[in-house]
Amino acid sequence: MSNTVQKNIDYKKYVVSSNLQYFKPHATKIEKTFAEEISSSLNNDSKSIHPKFFYDKKGSDLFEKICSLPEYYPTRTEITILKKLQDDLDSYIDESFRLVELGSGTSVKTRLILDIFTKLQNTTEYFPIDISEILTESSEQLLKDYSGLHITGIIDTYEGGLQFLKNFDDKKNLIIFLGSSFGNFSPNDGYKFLQKINSTMKSGDLFLIGLDLVKDKQILESAYTDSQDVTAEFNLNVLSRINDELDADFYLKNFAHHAIYNEEEQRIEMYLKSLVNQSVIISKSNLLLNLEKDELIHTEYSYKYKLSQIHELLTSTGFEIKHTWLDDNQYFSLTLVSKN
Ligand code: AVJ
Repeated sequence: MSNTVQKNIDYKKYVVSSNLQYFKPHATKIEKTFAEEISSSLNNDSKSIHPKFFYDKKGSDLFEKICSLPEYYPTRTEITILKKLQDDLDSYIDESFRLVELGSGTSVKTRLILDIFTKLQNTTEYFPIDISEILTESSEQLLKDYSGLHITGIIDTYEGGLQFLKNFDDKKNLIIFLGSSFGNFSPNDGYKFLQKINSTMKSGDLFLIGLDLVKDKQILESAYTDSQDVTAEFNLNVLSRINDELDADFYLKNFAHHAIYNEEEQRIEMYLKSLVNQSVIISKSNLLLNLEKDELIHTEYSYKYKLSQIHELLTSTGFEIKHTWLDDNQYFSLTLVSKN
């Protein structure tokens, strides 16, 4: 252990208990603050708010609610596919693997994979990588239910965490990135992200990615404008967050949730639409925001893929396809790849 700490001098190790520890970078990197990011993304002709800002406590709770909506098929479908994969994964992994997750979860999905590991192994190592300290809470929850589980949380960006892992030891990793979270990336950023993952992998490591597939426009649009308006609430909540954290005066009733599927670009586009001509003060961003009636603030892209595009994308970023699992409707996909 002391060796590995020496190799990762930029991280501080915190030991919580015999089966829970976490690493956090020593010096916080020079990152733009929430106020600065909002200031620059709204002080523009085309206005936007980055989707990472959805996930305050309220937003995370609303996202959980979205996941069980009848119209929101991705979560349910991915769980179905993970159950199929449970029968197959043991031909790819053995005692020598650990589980690494981009994003941390106590969710059903993480547990389905942990079930496979704990069946194959006496002790299982799980390394969640998450920018938020929430991973310590979610880890404690998992430890209650899995004896023989050893958790090492890495509190950092996905890229930073994976780089840390590369220098950590020689154990084989199965890295999982579920829920079509990758769909938030623009094609260019997504390409670079996959290259980065590939470059931090050792030969023998595996990567499992869950991606949403292109399908009928109606099915896609109702998944992002549900009949109970939970997605609308989720989208509008980012304005409440800005009100609370940046001393702003967004009047939520002056905005509407707007989500469309752009067939050409193969993406759901989510916006907040200004219902009137209005001005909003965002004090901590030093911004007086003027919005015209019907003007759109972009909040999210959620890309959908064809199977051929998934294979092309992964192959061109240095991976070798091992297997793709699908549900019967071909709504969602899980693809397992190795480093080429
Ligand atoms: C968490 C990015 C996968 O794009 O489906 C759900 C977020 N936004 N409903 C998605 C989301 C609106 C979700 N991801």
